[in-house]
Amino acid sequence: MQTINVKVNGTTYQESVPIRMLLVDFIREVVGLTGTHVSCTYEGVCGACTIHLNGEAVKSCMLLAVQADGHEITTVEGLANDKELSPLQKAFNEQHGLQCGFCTAGVLMNMTEFLAKNPNPSDDEIRHGLIGNLCRCTGYVHIVNAVRAAAKSIAN
Ligand code: FES
Ligand code: FES
Repeated sequence: MQTINVKVNGTTYQESVPIRMLLVDFIREVVGLTGTHVSCTYEGVCGACTIHLNGEAVKSCMLLAVQADGHEITTVEGLANDKELSPLQKAFNEQHGLQCGFCTAGVLMNMTEFLAKNPNPSDDEIRHGLIGNLCRCTGYVHIVNAVRAAAKSIAN
């Protein structure tokens, strides 16, 4: 066991965790935030477990909890500002960017970072940015529409 200090959505957690505990399991089982999903059984393929580590989108099944010691994490629960949805969350709602929603937390976290780095993306760039997120419901058309709409909304 190792004691770690991790700031999650602005709150610091000091916890004793098994050395081999994955970061996604720490977030879900220790911190209790279950918006971050596991879809590909920890293979790093689906992107459902994507979070921000110090502002960078990362797949939390590919990291150990101990690697987050001393760092800041944002999960999908931290995207809304004072209960107001982020522009990207609003766009997903308005553009029907999800069906079952299982992939959605990961898509939102990845595309939030994507739009911060590329505020005026082409559709091709959006599609390329989504390579690390598997969605088996939407066919991606509405996801791309939502990201495009969010970019416009942020710019205005
Ligand atoms: S659960 Fe992490 S990439 Fe699939
Ligand atoms: S909305 Fe169902 S997997 Fe993406």
